[in-house]
Amino acid sequence: MDFEKNIVKQDIKEVLGQDEVKKQLKSAILMRRHTILVGQPGIGKTTLVKGVANILPDIVLDKKKKKAPFVRIQGSPDLTAEDLIGDIDPAKALKFGAMSTEAFIPGKIFKADGGILFFDEVNRCSEKLQNTLLQVLEEGRVTIGSYDIDFNADFIFIGTMNPEEASTEPLSDVFLDRFDLIYMNPPETLDIERKIVLLRGKKLVDFPEELLTKLVSFIRKLRKSKDLEKHPSVRATIGIYERSQSNAYLENRKKVESKDILNAMISVLSHRIRLKPSLKYIKSSNEYVKEQFSEYFFENVEDQGDSP
Ligand SMILES: Nc1ncnc2c1ncn2[C@@H]1O[C@H](COP(=O)(O)OP(=O)(O)OP(=O)(O)O)[C@@H](O)[C@H]1O
Ligand SMILES: [Mg+2]
Repeated sequence: MDFEKNIVKQDIKEVLGQDEVKKQLKSAILMRRHTILVGQPGIGKTTLVKGVANILPDIVLDKKKKKAPFVRIQGSPDLTAEDLIGDIDPAKALKFGAMSTEAFIPGKIFKADGGILFFDEVNRCSEKLQNTLLQVLEEGRVTIGSYDIDFNADFIFIGTMNPEEASTEPLSDVFLDRFDLIYMNPPETLDIERKIVLLRGKKLVDFPEELLTKLVSFIRKLRKSKDLEKHPSVRATIGIYERSQSNAYLENRKKVESKDILNAMISVLSHRIRLKPSLKYIKSSNEYVKEQFSEYFFENVEDQGDSP
């Protein structure tokens, strides 16, 4: 019961807001179901999963209480089954016998026993690797070369995937059938996003409150814009917050001004958005950002855009 109680009563403090997502994830974890978080980059997926690891109760290993393990694997097209599951050491296979367990070098996945296997960007893995995972998740055993290896690692698999990632292998239906999917969206309100920025962003000089509100609401407005097919994430907001401060600092000021924000915009924001094709041929991202910024910050003084 320890496990269930812990999950119910503890908050995932690292993540502000996202109450519905947290609830969904807790509900999946209570049943130890494998889950994939779906959302654009910089939306807080990794932060959320790390937070989940912190609310897992300690596990008892060798009579000692230990923190539940958190093993992270970065999905990529080059990742192999051997990286994940393990491999056979040829020298040991010769010494101990070809089918001996001593010859097996366990892969990363075994370290997750009793905790969480966090699989980032699972949709960047090859289809072959997806198939290896299928077997592991379903049968608790895996085949490497001519070896059938019994696989005893009790973990909760939490994957992430970015639905917009172009260069990825689509996840097969059989693969997706092993998972529950939870969708994440940007912070629900301006206030939550402002708090995230203040909590996560580095501080160097003073950032006047009204300017910060305006910056966050500008980014949130871009997120709703019909001109864009890729929208800026929280990481972009944090980036502009930090770079505006450096810009002020470089000019020996102790306080951020609008021009510092503008000077940070191009470098932080332009590549993080993508204009719709109909606009892309008329103007560049740089021009678009500058134009929108000037309109919002200098012409539209009244509009604080304080919508959720
Ligand atoms: N709701 C939130 N609460 C606290 N911090 C957040 C939240 N959303 C985003 N962040 C912050 O935004 C930054 C990016 O978050 P994170 O790395 O978790 O995103 P991600 O979804 O894993 O991105 P990627 O897909 O690129 O790996 C971090 O600094 C994180 O702390
Ligand atoms: Mg991440």
